Amino acid sequence: MGINICVTGGQWGDEGKGKVIDVLSRDFDVVARFQGGSNAGHTVVINRKTYFLHLIPSGIFHKDKVCIIGNGVVLDPFGLKEEIENLKSNGIEVTPEKLSISDRAHLVLPFHNVLDRSLEKSRVFRKIGTTGRGIGPSYATKALRTGIRVIDLYNDEGLKVMLKDSLDCLNYLFENYFNSEIVDIDKLYNDLLEIREFLRPFVSNTVYKLDKLYREGKSILFEGAQASLLDIDHGTYPFVTSSSVIAGGISSGAGFPASKLDYSLGIFKAYCTRVGNGPFPSEAQNGLGEILRSIGGEFGTTTGRPRRCGWFDLVAAKYAAIVNGYTHIALMKLDVLSKFTELPVCVEYKYKGSKLKEFPSDINLLEKVEPVYKFLKGWDIDITGVKTFEDLPIEAQDYVKFIADKLETEVYLISVGPDRSESIVTYNFLEKA
Ligand code: GDP
Ligand code: IMO
Ligand code: MG
Repeated sequence: MGINICVTGGQWGDEGKGKVIDVLSRDFDVVARFQGGSNAGHTVVINRKTYFLHLIPSGIFHKDKVCIIGNGVVLDPFGLKEEIENLKSNGIEVTPEKLSISDRAHLVLPFHNVLDRSLEKSRVFRKIGTTGRGIGPSYATKALRTGIRVIDLYNDEGLKVMLKDSLDCLNYLFENYFNSEIVDIDKLYNDLLEIREFLRPFVSNTVYKLDKLYREGKSILFEGAQASLLDIDHGTYPFVTSSSVIAGGISSGAGFPASKLDYSLGIFKAYCTRVGNGPFPSEAQNGLGEILRSIGGEFGTTTGRPRRCGWFDLVAAKYAAIVNGYTHIALMKLDVLSKFTELPVCVEYKYKGSKLKEFPSDINLLEKVEPVYKFLKGWDIDITGVKTFEDLPIEAQDYVKFIADKLETEVYLISVGPDRSESIVTYNFLEKA
């Protein structure tokens, strides 16, 4: 039997999932996305060359791997074409042998993007700060049962009717309520007839494909996008994304039972960032956030927005470890913390004189809690070139051990730079195989 693992973000996204999945892909046969869409921005750096991925799984850089876009992903077909062409122009093969797209995946169409932006504009008190990629509206039409799936592109009689069903009412809202552009149904229909031919060779029922690969003993790696604290159920609602991003999401989002997972790997930055609005108890104050942003290059991969920066939050991380059942963690961007003399780690929250050890469901409360910090010793040498755990300064070793111990997980990888090669791998998942 192969080994199956799910990789998810343990914080508010952009932890470095793309890098870890690229590194792990070497040892796995299949890399599958199961949720989210092009709101994701996953960076992979190979020999100092940087690639950005939004929809295509981060295993694409390895030859002979199968990449799958599962049914739980919401797919912008025009964006996907651009992404494939961009990779090809950089010499990366994206063939139907390497990439399969679920016929059940819901489409993100231009009207979803218009709705995303219009809703965001119309919100007065609770602006989410979405990526504007139409993600929430696409999951909304899926739940309303007016969504259009990849398979529907090939329904000659039905497609136009579905578009009309979905759009007539939205166009009314665009024109009369939001005062925004309306969508030309005939033009969209013709654009879809064109794009469906481009997509056709990649499309299949990926549930059967994954099951077949599993039965052949292949090792499968599930690539989470976004992160636990942005999860529609477990995140800081309503400041979340619209999908089930946690490890259990693979059952609904890829049709692969979560019970078949051997490992659950959580990706954490050695500090913490958040892009978009919503509570962030350990957000750094007194200019330290700007320093972290500048050293860490913390600007969004998808939108370019500056990321809010702060310190590692163990209360939030522990919640993520529980809902994902983390067996292992990867701790990313440890190099960014070099040169700080002391490193605050939030170990509990305080509210009106009481200690809180649990991550509150009430975001009004979460907005008001005070972080309680334990200060760990920093180190003042550059650790970018370090290759083994033992060669890290003792303070850096202690920092990693402290977090892993508190989360009751083993450490798979410590990242000390953006490049594939700047990774200290401390665990071999395949040993069990
Ligand atoms: P993802 O969405 O989780 O895949 O993460 P992003 O790609 O959005 O953001 C992570 C950023 O950190 C990217 O610019 C990476 O190249 C960079 N990065 C990843 N690991 C490290 C690291 O260990 N050190 C530094 N300095 N940068 C890193
Ligand atoms: P990766 O996979 C960081 C945030 C947005 C916003 C909220 C809702 O690169 O880690 P959406 O467009 O999904 O409706 O936005 O979620 N967000 C992310 N933040 N990394 C991401 O993806 C994100 N995807 C969405 O900023 O706050
Ligand atoms: Mg990202």
